[in-house]
Amino acid sequence: MIISASTDYRKAAQRRIPPFLFHYADGGSYTEHTLRRNVEDLAGIALRQRVLKDMSSLSLETTLFGETLAMPIALAPVGLAGMYARRGEVQAARAAASKGIPFTLSTVSVCSIDEVASAIDRPIWFQLYVLKDRGFMKHALEKAKAAGVRTLVFTVDMPVPGARYRDAHSGMSGKSGPIRRMAQAAMHPFWAWDVGINGRPHDLGNVSDYRGSPTGLEDYIAWLGNNFDPAISWKDLEWIREFWDGPMIIKGILDPEDARDAVRFGADGIVVSNHGGRQLDGVLSTVRALPAIADAVKGDLAILADSGIRSGLDVVRMIALGADTVLLGRAFIYALATAGESGVSHLLELFEKEMRVAMTLTGAHSIADLGLDSLVPDAILGTY
Ligand SMILES: Cc1cc2nc3c(=O)[nH]c(=O)nc-3n(C[C@H](O)[C@H](O)[C@H](O)COP(=O)(O)O)c2cc1C
Repeated sequence: MIISASTDYRKAAQRRIPPFLFHYADGGSYTEHTLRRNVEDLAGIALRQRVLKDMSSLSLETTLFGETLAMPIALAPVGLAGMYARRGEVQAARAAASKGIPFTLSTVSVCSIDEVASAIDRPIWFQLYVLKDRGFMKHALEKAKAAGVRTLVFTVDMPVPGARYRDAHSGMSGKSGPIRRMAQAAMHPFWAWDVGINGRPHDLGNVSDYRGSPTGLEDYIAWLGNNFDPAISWKDLEWIREFWDGPMIIKGILDPEDARDAVRFGADGIVVSNHGGRQLDGVLSTVRALPAIADAVKGDLAILADSGIRSGLDVVRMIALGADTVLLGRAFIYALATAGESGVSHLLELFEKEMRVAMTLTGAHSIADLGLDSLVPDAILGTY
């Protein structure tokens, strides 16, 4: 039975899907220190309880780049989300749209931009990686524009991939990967039938579209591996700034100096993120990085934050520390893997309820009311 957004969907997902997929989502890089810190540091931020303040009217609504969000949450870009449920990106996007929040499609999604954008009435957000193949980047941006995407999320914390040891152990990568994945699928017949067989094609929709030929999981690992660009700098982003006339959000900022550079570059927003602890293990949890970044750039651009958010209370904590909106990564993937669109819708309802309770008991009538005052004075753990 699913009661808690933060733990029950994770357990249910682990039962439902093959281990290679569970660990691909659940894992982080190297010893997974940052992954654990993201969750633990955030959960450790103490909220300040207030009472008897007539909290009968409460609004979770917020506005970002002229777009109304029913609550300050968007679904994060997650590569291969389409492997977690049948045409998974479409199901997750439908759930997000039905709850009045944005869905972000990853560059390396199973479903293409067109497939997802045409499935819902609300414009999706699109995430792009910096890749050596600039032809692909241009093609993807053109596709996104044509599909009605306005908000571009540009991920910059992957000039090289962090090693994910769990993927090698689970069969997600490695020489024996294909046979191990087949064996695991056979042990999870519901997933095998629903997604493995009926969820095809298991393409990288956007890459196949560009190449004009189908792509699979092996291509994903090889293509991404060959395409990361360690030479990237702010200068390389200028043509995209010129090409893209909608809001541009830089994802993967963890330092106040980089946040200031994003302002100088002309970004409309940043995502304070360590990629969910999947890149450089040992860096700050985002919740520890956030206050200094908010000090540096709050008001100059929109501040989004992710990594470690597992409940509505965590959303309230991030907003209180300076985020305008948050992104959910694993939290929605576990729900998608468990029950598809209805799982994600239910998860968002749980988040909403938890936020309402947290706002009522911290005396915040609106998102704008949340601030450092909503936390106990020493709530921010000492900085490193
Ligand atoms: C399975 C998985 C795949 C991801 N793929 C992408 C991606 O394609 N692009 C991207 O910018 N971030 C990607 N991320 C990072 C998320 O967008 C987000 O930053 C991270 O999941 C937040 O941490 P959380 O999962 O602890 O909430 C991925 C995360 C996971 C778990």
